[in-house]
Amino acid sequence: MLRRGHKSKLWNSRVPVLAISLAFMLVLVILFLVLHNDSDGEKPSLAYEVSEQKWSSFDSLVKLHPTREFRNGTDLIWQVPESPKGVMFLAHGCNGRSINFWDKSPECPNCIGLPEERLLVLHGLAQGFAVITISSARTCWSFGKEVLVVKDILEWWIGRRKLEKLPLVALGASSGGYFVSVLATAVKFNSIVIMIAEGMFEEMDVKEDYPPTLFVHMPKDLYRQQKIDEYVEVLKGKGIDVGVVECMEFPLSPNTLADRIPGLDLTLSRSLFEIFQGKGFVDQNGYMRKDGRRIKWEKAVEEKKTLSLDKRLVPHIQEELNLAFASHEMTSIHSDQIFKWFESHMG
Ligand SMILES: *[C@@H]1O[C@H](CO)[C@@H](O)[C@H](O)[C@H]1NC(C)=O
Repeated sequence: MLRRGHKSKLWNSRVPVLAISLAFMLVLVILFLVLHNDSDGEKPSLAYEVSEQKWSSFDSLVKLHPTREFRNGTDLIWQVPESPKGVMFLAHGCNGRSINFWDKSPECPNCIGLPEERLLVLHGLAQGFAVITISSARTCWSFGKEVLVVKDILEWWIGRRKLEKLPLVALGASSGGYFVSVLATAVKFNSIVIMIAEGMFEEMDVKEDYPPTLFVHMPKDLYRQQKIDEYVEVLKGKGIDVGVVECMEFPLSPNTLADRIPGLDLTLSRSLFEIFQGKGFVDQNGYMRKDGRRIKWEKAVEEKKTLSLDKRLVPHIQEELNLAFASHEMTSIHSDQIFKWFESHMG
């Protein structure tokens, strides 16, 4: 038997101290969680957001059944949800096409469904937007006649689907971002999102009725960061509503690729991560050391004879590696903030 007397005395004297320190720790934990949630997409919650987003997140909410059409020398792919509450035009970057936004399906056998593009479409449809994607005539968008062509296509399509009473918004990334910034002078948008681009604000005359503009950018891209800072002030000076969302790098985990790419299973995701670690493409914390375009990751995978990689997944993996490095890539990570921007400027 233990000497109960001694033990209970010790216990008695320690209970308050223990309780107080436990309560203190609890308060700290709660504070931490609250602050974490409130930061709303800024750096601390990023890892959380990325790990929450899976390629299949929308499976129970929306199914992709797009329609592909050809008009004015280009193709458009679109889908209208039941009782749409708005229309969203998405513009790809250089080398992009409308087929990148939609999964391969019986309706679109040529579709590619890049991970970030498809998630933007799914978010849009889940939020009740009719989504339309159009391909640029050439590798990148141009800012002369092509602006009128896209305006024509949009107006024709909106008229035919009888959506002209609904709010119209646009999101463009990179070349598509410059394009949307110009298109907004020809087409009346309720608001726009310019992603990884500073826009053409030096080349055009921006009027007071220019739409509310959200810049979604990657501060690692210093040149654009500086330009955006500059243009934010210019637009604000004209009384235009402006917002900024910064996208930071995030660490890859063995699961990241499987989480974000349809058709890439967990085993392959883990093997690829191991190769990236072995080759030093990622540091000890999983962060990409360079942009995905600047490392020979495909060659490293080929050298691994035991692994067979479906070539069709290469652009998808490439996109996620670029995104994790966060210098210049299409991103759906901040969709919550993007759609909050659209929602708050629908009137
Ligand atoms: C687009 O096509 C329509 C129908 O063929 C035509 O009327 C219109 O002028 C074209 N728009 C441009 C900008 O080429």
